[in-house]
Amino acid sequence: MGKSCYFDNAATSFPKAPGVAEAMTNYLTQVGSNVGRGDYQSAYAAAERVLEVREKLCRRFGAPDPRNVIFTPGSTYGLNAVLKGVLRPGDKVAASPMEHNAVLRPLTQLEQAGVEIVWLPCSHTGELLLDQAAELLTPDLKLCVLTHASNVCGTRMPIEAVGRLCRERGILFCVDAAQSAGFVPLDMGPMEIDALAMPAHKGLLGPQGLGVLLLTDAMAEAMEPLVSGGTGSRSDLLEMPPFLPDRLEPGTLNLPGIYGLGAALDWWEGQDQAALRHREERLTGHLIARLAEYEEDGLRVLGTRDEKKQVGVVSVDFLEKDNAECAYRLERDFGIQTRCGLHCAPLAHKTLGTYPQGTVRFSVGPFTRFEDIDYVQGAVAEILCG
Ligand SMILES: Cc1ncc(COP(=O)(O)O)c(C=O)c1O
Repeated sequence: MGKSCYFDNAATSFPKAPGVAEAMTNYLTQVGSNVGRGDYQSAYAAAERVLEVREKLCRRFGAPDPRNVIFTPGSTYGLNAVLKGVLRPGDKVAASPMEHNAVLRPLTQLEQAGVEIVWLPCSHTGELLLDQAAELLTPDLKLCVLTHASNVCGTRMPIEAVGRLCRERGILFCVDAAQSAGFVPLDMGPMEIDALAMPAHKGLLGPQGLGVLLLTDAMAEAMEPLVSGGTGSRSDLLEMPPFLPDRLEPGTLNLPGIYGLGAALDWWEGQDQAALRHREERLTGHLIARLAEYEEDGLRVLGTRDEKKQVGVVSVDFLEKDNAECAYRLERDFGIQTRCGLHCAPLAHKTLGTYPQGTVRFSVGPFTRFEDIDYVQGAVAEILCG
């Protein structure tokens, strides 16, 4: 196989943090027991590690208690659990057009069942129009759901400001942190977030098939369980146990995944996180600047084009070419792996003016090198002008 240059960290990060694969193998080969279902040493050891990982997540993201850290199969599940757990026919919910289908599709199902959606407007760079949004966030809303950063163009949302408005007006606030958890600091307390959904496999550098949903008590109380089943606790009850995390966490946990995520969090804890964040910002700025050099040659760079206002996700539209063909050539001729299309966010493209053609998306991670971006520049130049 020839050169391979991975620019699809927004879909899933690669490589994973050092130690993740080893921790998963260790669980599968050395531990193996279920949690809450066995009275023997290896089951206690697994339970202890699961609690440690909950505690790490609780500290890192400012959840009120480790019990309020719910393991899910992914952020899609966590977002569905919140939306379908809280909203009932006649309720009103606010969302932005920059949301991923993990939010748009459950909202559409809920709308068909009689929930009203209030759309918070965004500019053509994907930024929330805060003054207009503030007028629309009225106290009769039950919930506001917002992505922290767009998975199409990387634009960040003003989470703190929206959180404050929601708290003042008694609206529950759910944040989709799929594209921000990892690099971007997140603290549920000061940001007034009631539900924070994230996957293990993107910026946290953990494995696929696992997500985390962190909840305030108010949000947890407002939620009906999306799925019910065995928890290993209060087996006498035919309803879900009344306490967290069990009430919202049915079935056997993804234990290899939790061990892997634990190792990823250990790795993050050993890093200078401010330095990593700064480097990601500089990489993003470098990528934007290199791509923006070709605007007169028919390349449109989307979003704010300001690395301070976005995460490391940069989308381009090859105005006079077919984006799918360009992404194909990037991989075939240069080994550059990107993602092309609508990225599961059709309304974001309508907002950004790239519907239906979509974009080619480049996304960086902590292991991206500056020279990889220079290599991308050369490849894009070749495709545009070669
Ligand atoms: C903004 C956003 N939300 C939600 C998701 C869904 O994440 P997952 O597929 O891990 O459930 C993604 C995945 O790309 C995303 O980018």
